Amino acid sequence: MSETRKLRAGVIGVGWAGEQHLIGYDAADGVEIVALAGMEADRLQQLGDAYGADLRYADWKQMLAEADLDVVSIATPTSLHAPMAIAALNAGIHVLSEKPMAENGAMAQQMVDAAVANDKVLDVLFNHRRGGQVKALKQIVDSGLLGRIYYAKAGWLRRAGIPGLGSWFTKMKTAGGGPMMDIGVHMLDMAMHLLDEPTVSTVSATTYAEFGPRGIGGATGAGSNKSGAGDTTEFEVEDLSTAFMRLGNGGTLLLETSWASWIPHDLIYVNLYGSDGGATLELGGSPATYTKLEVWTEINGFPAEIQPDIPASGGHTEAVLDFLAKVRADNHDAHRGQEGLARSIVVDACYASASQHREVTV
Ligand SMILES: NC(=O)c1ccc[n+]([C@@H]2O[C@H](COP(=O)([O-])OP(=O)(O)OC[C@H]3O[C@@H](n4cnc5c(N)ncnc54)[C@H](O)[C@@H]3O)[C@@H](O)[C@H]2O)c1
Repeated sequence: MSETRKLRAGVIGVGWAGEQHLIGYDAADGVEIVALAGMEADRLQQLGDAYGADLRYADWKQMLAEADLDVVSIATPTSLHAPMAIAALNAGIHVLSEKPMAENGAMAQQMVDAAVANDKVLDVLFNHRRGGQVKALKQIVDSGLLGRIYYAKAGWLRRAGIPGLGSWFTKMKTAGGGPMMDIGVHMLDMAMHLLDEPTVSTVSATTYAEFGPRGIGGATGAGSNKSGAGDTTEFEVEDLSTAFMRLGNGGTLLLETSWASWIPHDLIYVNLYGSDGGATLELGGSPATYTKLEVWTEINGFPAEIQPDIPASGGHTEAVLDFLAKVRADNHDAHRGQEGLARSIVVDACYASASQHREVTV
């Protein structure tokens, strides 16, 4: 690839997530947004105009065939990630897929195989690990201040945040699962990232559907405006899941997630329990936002609380820029979607454990 040629970028999906990818490409040097695909004609036109994507398609296959893309982002319902990514990789296009990577580990594995076979980058976008507090906590963990972390708890609990009751999000075929698949995977990713990628040996999980089947617990406002929103009785996934994971390094991770639950406010959290220190990260949501990062240890026998500087949050844009750096790197072997696949395999194990009512080996 010539150093001077701008990378030609396309995005499939014109919902909230698709626009975040457009913002990311728009912020990048050496990239030209050339094409956009999506099924809502008005939104396709609006985003196409806003981000200068002159080629617009209702049919994503036509976009891959005609737009001469170098890179493509996939921000569509989850069950479309694999077919779209595999087609793009087979057409010689590097792929950045939204999370979750696919509706199950088998489809995620097919995506990895296609990236390897075509020597292309496959990246899965986990933006929440790029939050400022998470970055600060990661620096603290990596410094060794907390010692050996043997226990971690992570969760994303929503009070009323089912994303589009009756949309593709709440149907098993298109989403592959409920909050464990949708937002639990962000917290699994965040925890694994903070813990330096331990393997997961076993999982014992449960799932519940207490709100969705009654047509309550739906998100209001912009977040509820999902494509395909329809019959509220079509709630086929869980709305709360919890999992106990034994890690390969002897540690334990407890993960809980809900789209709807009777709690005072939304809560995203990670608690780390180390041999030499501990940390609590909390990001609160509706009805009031707040953030908390507490790190405590002992210095020369004195209890000590650390107040780290918080770097800027990177979000989608930072993830898009990282993806482009991987594309431009000489060797793509470390960038075939391996981490996304690992997350999918653990999420599969959670659902298997829940349905079989027992602990399963990963
Ligand atoms: N990382 C994050 O923070 C984050 C946040 C929200 C959503 N997501 C992920 O992004 C993806 C999309 O979520 P969303 O909230 O934007 O959903 P959405 O329903 O708002 O948008 C989905 C888009 O996919 C398009 N689409 C569906 N079928 C298509 C087809 N056959 N051809 C072309 N386009 C098609 C629709 O036209 C729509 O524009 C999901 O995988 C979701 O998990 C990630």
